[in-house]
Amino acid sequence: MSSTISKIGVLTSGGDAPGMNAAIRSLVRSAEFNNIETIGIQRGFQGLIEGSFEQLEIRSVSNILGLGGTFLRSARSIDFLDKKKRNLAYKNLQNHGINAVVVIGGNGSLTGASVFSEEFNVPVIGIPASIDNDVFGTDFSIGYNTALETIVESVDKIRDTANSHNRLFFIEVMGRNSGNLALNASLASGACFVIIPEKDFRLNDLVKRLEENKKRNKESSIVIVAEGNSYGPSYKIAEDLSKVYSAYESKVTILGHIQRGGKPSSFDRILASQLGMSALESLKLNKYNTLVGLVNNTLINLPIAEVINATNKLSNDLYRLNKIISR
Ligand code: F6P
Repeated sequence: MSSTISKIGVLTSGGDAPGMNAAIRSLVRSAEFNNIETIGIQRGFQGLIEGSFEQLEIRSVSNILGLGGTFLRSARSIDFLDKKKRNLAYKNLQNHGINAVVVIGGNGSLTGASVFSEEFNVPVIGIPASIDNDVFGTDFSIGYNTALETIVESVDKIRDTANSHNRLFFIEVMGRNSGNLALNASLASGACFVIIPEKDFRLNDLVKRLEENKKRNKESSIVIVAEGNSYGPSYKIAEDLSKVYSAYESKVTILGHIQRGGKPSSFDRILASQLGMSALESLKLNKYNTLVGLVNNTLINLPIAEVINATNKLSNDLYRLNKIISR
């Protein structure tokens, strides 16, 4: 494909994340500032295959900065796993004169972007967006901060009723295979225990913690459970616990997709705006096939191939802190 970028495509893919709209807005406006046209691709890679394209300009992205979800809509496209369908996608790009694609999404979406760019030599830029905050190479993915705030607000509310009834609550949060969201939610909401995929969980450790707390007259407790933990779903944990420890009546709350919705926080709006402009500038500087990210408050580029073959590590310092102060 031509190395002079005059028209770019943008898509949002995988699980939506609050702030995706802010990233699109920033990209479109930065592109127009640089006399580059932007085509919005609907429903992620599926829209790329089906040619669901729309012209975007400064006014088409008005009033979306504070909206959750993604106005381009998203999908987890199974079709895009098929080489023949990817061929169709490439032809659609050629027919519309699009010479680069910006993909906003998490690990699965970035993997799709990488395969596509290698197959057809299409310049791509990845913008990390996932509430899981599990994309390697950036301190923050778009949507994570908002989801964390939503979780903490929900846990605070559950704590009111847990206190009133002297109950133990297991609150299950998203995160896929990552415990980032759960660990940080635990710290920010003052849970007494967290169960995450990165660390082994023994039921006995939870029993000990609850017994200790009971001795110190703690009347209610919150345990944050990451959905991807290896022991099992929160209902199983609650049931197994009830067989060996019954000092508390326990309840389970699965927060579910409420964690992905809502207005993006100011942090996510600003992060998304930074990454949107950085994606455009990366294309101008021929930094093709990279992820734009933020590390130590500095914008960076990292080859997408490196990103998709690595995992974002959990902070052991935060885990230790949580273990010591969460009681
Ligand atoms: O990757 C974001 C995420 O919300 C994960 O935390 C969760 O496991 C998954 O997506 C749920 O996906 P879906 O909305 O397709 O069920």
